[in-house]
Amino acid sequence: MEPVEWNARRAVLVCTESGREARLNLMNASASSTSASTVSADTVFMDRALELAARGVALASPNPLVGALLVRDGRVVGEGFHTYDGVRHAEIVALDAARESARGAALYINLEPCCHTGRTGPCTQALIAAGVARVVVAMADPNPAVAGRGFRELRAAGIEVVSGLREAEARRLNEAFARWIVSRKPLVTLKSARTLDGRLVLPDTQSGAHKNRRISENDRWISSPESRAEVQIMRHTSDALLTGIGTVLVDDPLLTDRTGLPRRRKLLRVVLDSRLRLPLRSRLVRSADGDVLVFTRAKRDSPKASALRRAGVEVVHLAGRATKPDLLAAIADLGRREMLSVLLEAGETLNSAALDAGIVDKMRVFLAPRIAGAAGKKTGAASAPKRIPAARELHGVTMERFGPDFAIEGYLRDVYRTR
Ligand SMILES: NC(=O)c1ccc[n+]([C@@H]2O[C@H](COP(=O)([O-])OP(=O)(O)OC[C@H]3O[C@@H](n4cnc5c(N)ncnc54)[C@H](OP(=O)(O)O)[C@@H]3O)[C@@H](O)[C@H]2O)c1
Ligand SMILES: [Zn+2]
Repeated sequence: MEPVEWNARRAVLVCTESGREARLNLMNASASSTSASTVSADTVFMDRALELAARGVALASPNPLVGALLVRDGRVVGEGFHTYDGVRHAEIVALDAARESARGAALYINLEPCCHTGRTGPCTQALIAAGVARVVVAMADPNPAVAGRGFRELRAAGIEVVSGLREAEARRLNEAFARWIVSRKPLVTLKSARTLDGRLVLPDTQSGAHKNRRISENDRWISSPESRAEVQIMRHTSDALLTGIGTVLVDDPLLTDRTGLPRRRKLLRVVLDSRLRLPLRSRLVRSADGDVLVFTRAKRDSPKASALRRAGVEVVHLAGRATKPDLLAAIADLGRREMLSVLLEAGETLNSAALDAGIVDKMRVFLAPRIAGAAGKKTGAASAPKRIPAARELHGVTMERFGPDFAIEGYLRDVYRTR
């Protein structure tokens, strides 16, 4: 296992050599870009809350990532983060750790405290009862139906509330939760690795020839080991991975999260496969353990569907008039399964269909400084579009370097918008 880092802008999750330990870096990019002396104490404590929240990655979903700490006289007296199985909300974990020291303390938390009863009682009431004097929050509840109510309850009890500190970082951390809580659809991120001449496939790998012949590690992959380690982190932060049968037939991929970091639900591996061509002997099927799902147009009771089910694969027939499973229906189904985030790792065919269907919220393209040449041109490409859609621009575009590659990222939709 190579050491991988969950990049600084999102607080840092470091997967150590053994691949077993998660460590959180104390600085995030925005903090390190400001000199220590100009960063307020509030900001330093809020960065800590964000780091704590990030420890809930793959453990909090379908709940939001929340970290909290209580500070009295400049000293941390209690801290915590939320995991779904731990039930308690982050501020309650911090209150339980601080006990009597919570009285008169300031709470730093990345998300507005809740004021409703779910699996636990309202956190606002617990904070009021504990005598917390001040609450510093990064962002309001992303659900517009409840946003601001927590703040109002705290203020009504005489607690000073400050909101908006490190808001951009906090919104980024919980973007998948925000997308899901307002739309009941997962945040879909299209990830791909391309050569500088725009190809998704290297000459020697498109026919599957690489499975029979020995080809060097370098010729097998488009992107660098650094990029591939980052993709593992992207899988770790996702609830589901979506691909097309085309990729499965050529690459026979495993599509697992191999960071070794703990996760409460297995990464759900989803294949779109109209005619159930998924081979029973594929690595995906052989490794299925309640975590492989196929969306198909094939009949529910077809012999192949039964064979896949016996092999531990869930086969879901999606109704519709077209010959291929409807992408919007597939995404809605994943949303109903409480999948907050879906990583789309497919070939050109499914990628373009997903973009056309409007299911992609965000893209991340790893550009590798190599040329596939004419041989890398995709054979049997998707049929020409009936109409040429207007070019769309991404917003919030950023770029990062991974070894020799550049990863360009941007958004196709404002995931915090209600519709
Ligand atoms: N560089 C990268 O980032 C990257 C990532 C992944 C894959 N790849 C490469 O891409 C190549 C495979 O590309 P590909 O385009 O053939 O395969 P693909 O995009 O992975 O899968 C396409 C297939 O999915 C099925 N499908 C089911 N429902 C669909 C829907 N609603 N819309 C569109 N397709 C649907 C279709 O086959 P049915 O109609 O039979 O179901 C379709 O042919 C491989 O060589 C692989 O190595 C590259
Ligand atoms: Zn709560």
